[in-house]
Formats: sequence, C-alpha cells, structure tokens
Amino acid sequence: MTADSNKDLQYLKAIGRICAEALRRMQGAVRVGMTTRELDEIGRAFLETEGARSAPQAMYKFPGATCISVSPVIAHGIPNERLLREGELIHIDVSAELDGYFADTGASLVVSKSERRFEKLIEATRSSLNKALRAAKAGNRMNAISRAVQTEAGKRGYNVITDLTGHGIGRKLHEEPKEILNYYDSNDRRILNEGLVLAIEPFLTTGVGRVTQERDGWSLRTTDKAIAAQFEHTIVVTKNKPIILTA
Ligand code: CO
Ligand code: CO
Repeated sequence: MTADSNKDLQYLKAIGRICAEALRRMQGAVRVGMTTRELDEIGRAFLETEGARSAPQAMYKFPGATCISVSPVIAHGIPNERLLREGELIHIDVSAELDGYFADTGASLVVSKSERRFEKLIEATRSSLNKALRAAKAGNRMNAISRAVQTEAGKRGYNVITDLTGHGIGRKLHEEPKEILNYYDSNDRRILNEGLVLAIEPFLTTGVGRVTQERDGWSLRTTDKAIAAQFEHTIVVTKNKPIILTA
C-alpha cells in the first residue's frame, strides 16, 4: 500500500511496534531445551494481549502464530515439539494485523552460546538489510534495494537466496509490489514512490541460494542444506531515510 494519510501512518506504526516487541520478547526467551512451540506461545500471547492477529494464521491458516525455523530451514518453520539445542542457528518471523493494517519482521540468532561461523553470517545479513534500507528512497529504482543486498552479501563472501523476496505490505501481508528481489535485475524498472510500504528481507547463505519445501507443506530449507540467515523490517519509503515501522 501507499501510506498517504496520518491515519495510515499511525496504524502502521502501531502494528509495527507490536510485531517488533513480539519478536524482541521471543528472542529474549530463547533457551536450550525449550520447544519451538513454547517459544511460539510467547509470541502468540503477546499478540493476543495487544489485540493483534497472527498474519500467517489469519491469511494462510499457518499452524502457528509465528514462524520458527531451525537451520537449514530458513522460512515458514512450524512451531512444534522439537527441543532447541545449544549452538543451533534459528530464525523467528513475526507478522501480524491490527485494525486492518499489517507488519512483518524477522531475525536470525544462535541458541545460547556464540558460534563464530553463524555469527559472521548473521552480521552480514543484518548489514545487508541496513544497506538495503539506505537504498530505499523515493525516486530510486526498486532494484537499488536488490543491488544493495547482493553487493553487501558478495563483499562478505555470501550468496543471496534468489527464491525468497521482499514484498509490498500494509493492507495485506503480501501485496503489490510483489517480489522485491535480493539480487540485481537490470530489467526491473519499478520506481519507489513516497509512502510505499515494504517488507525488505535479505536472505544470505553459504550455499547456492535455492530453497525447497519440506514434506510438512510449509518449511522452506536450502536445497543444499547450507546455513542461511534473514533479517526483515517493514518500512515506509520517504524522500530521505525510510520510516522503520518494526525497529
Ligand atoms: Co516475515
Ligand atoms: Co515478509
């Protein structure tokens, strides 16, 4: 959507804050030996307290309030009875709706102890998102975002996952503009307009950058079982720095 009123902005900020806080609480609660379902429950309870609805549940009947993916699954992981183990790379994605407005955010982290090769990938992914946010300026081409992600990934020695993209958001979880690529495509001539609401989500990996769906019908893992990380923010494009709704 394009946020073109103060009301839009206030409602978007409200759901953005709720998603960010749910993610923050879940990240803070990650412990060795807890199940991903228990972790999901923390997010679910917070969304409920705020009167918000889980977006994947409401829109796609996803079997969980949030997506919790244990590497090499990198997206749409179903919360279940699996116990988190020390040193595992996991990803949490929270998207929700309040009063007809949607936001979407995600982060990767290592369970409990620090694990050098995971931390490096996480840092590079976070940095790719930051570079992408700087490129998300009204008047720029949308592929400036894509190029920023891919360039930063390359500099740090990683590939992007080409199968997974950012997206328009606001009145739905996924809406126009679809497919904000994480790699540069010179044929993508779309221009960013002021007020455009986007979810930007770089996925970086040590592997070839393709994903496949697991037999559960949801979980997306890297085809080569390489590790991957993602960070995601929902933003409003302006002439200058974007407004980060999920900061
Ligand atoms: Co997301
Ligand atoms: Co998203």
